[in-house]
Amino acid sequence: MPGIIVQSAVLGPKKENPKTSISELYHENSKLHPSIPTEMIAAGNYTQTEILAMARGYKRYRLAPQIKLTEKESLLPSDRKFDEVVDSRRSVRSFNNDEELSLNELSKLLYQSYGITGEMKRPDEGSIPLRAAPSGGALYPAEIYLGIRHVSGVEPGIYHYNVPDHALELLFPGDPTEKLYNVCCQQEYTKEASVVFLISGVLQRTKRKYGERGYRYVFLDVGHLGQNIYLSCTALNLAVMTTCGFFDDEANKLLRIDGIDETTLYVAFVGKQKN
Ligand SMILES: Cc1cc2nc3c(=O)[nH]c(=O)nc-3n(C[C@H](O)[C@H](O)[C@H](O)COP(=O)(O)O)c2cc1C
Repeated sequence: MPGIIVQSAVLGPKKENPKTSISELYHENSKLHPSIPTEMIAAGNYTQTEILAMARGYKRYRLAPQIKLTEKESLLPSDRKFDEVVDSRRSVRSFNNDEELSLNELSKLLYQSYGITGEMKRPDEGSIPLRAAPSGGALYPAEIYLGIRHVSGVEPGIYHYNVPDHALELLFPGDPTEKLYNVCCQQEYTKEASVVFLISGVLQRTKRKYGERGYRYVFLDVGHLGQNIYLSCTALNLAVMTTCGFFDDEANKLLRIDGIDETTLYVAFVGKQKN
């Protein structure tokens, strides 16, 4: 890929030539400092129309078959207290492969992770939808894809979470286990979890407003989303574990995303707890 520097060793510090650290170069070049004009820091010189358009940056696969998720109003509240959920949140490394997730559980998990929970009225016109996770500039750069293995009433396959419709979109039918196993560096959890979350970042959604520094915000946003998944799973008594152990380009190929404008950033395994 012309213009893109590829380091031969990607794991661990490169001791022999620390000055070429890409992360240090990037971090240094994406710092704010007082000599930068305030209007550039605020990055706020947009019209109402542009702001409203930016706030609706979610993907939809219009031709994909849709499965409606259960709306929040029809879901039972958790009987676990927030204090207890925070105290008991753990990465759980074993899943009950014999019991399916219910569609209600998945509905709640998606709603509490990244669903639309409110709106912000704009002074002149319209409103901006707000989500369960905070997001730099309310731009919501993440997209959630799901490798579904065992969810009641849902055929196995690779799905996308359509946020505004609160629905699953079937992208590729068929048992995804083997593909997920290979994408996730042959981790056995892919064969035990009911659902594998694959979260991508659409980088330009945030970078168009915040420039190179916006790249940091995308990861911060995905981290918030990841914690929501953890807390929601805990409240639902589900097992959850995240991993960075996935082959980036293989994950992108699986989701048919290009790895440049949109790229996989986060994987989480979710399933029923083992008794
Ligand atoms: C970015 C990230 C990547 C992780 N990758 C793995 C992983 O590949 N394998 C694993 O067993 N745990 C992984 N974990 C889970 C951590 O090991 C775990 O969060 C940590 O040990 C603290 O335990 P707790 O989550 O149960 O509180 C990851 C966590 C994060 C945030």
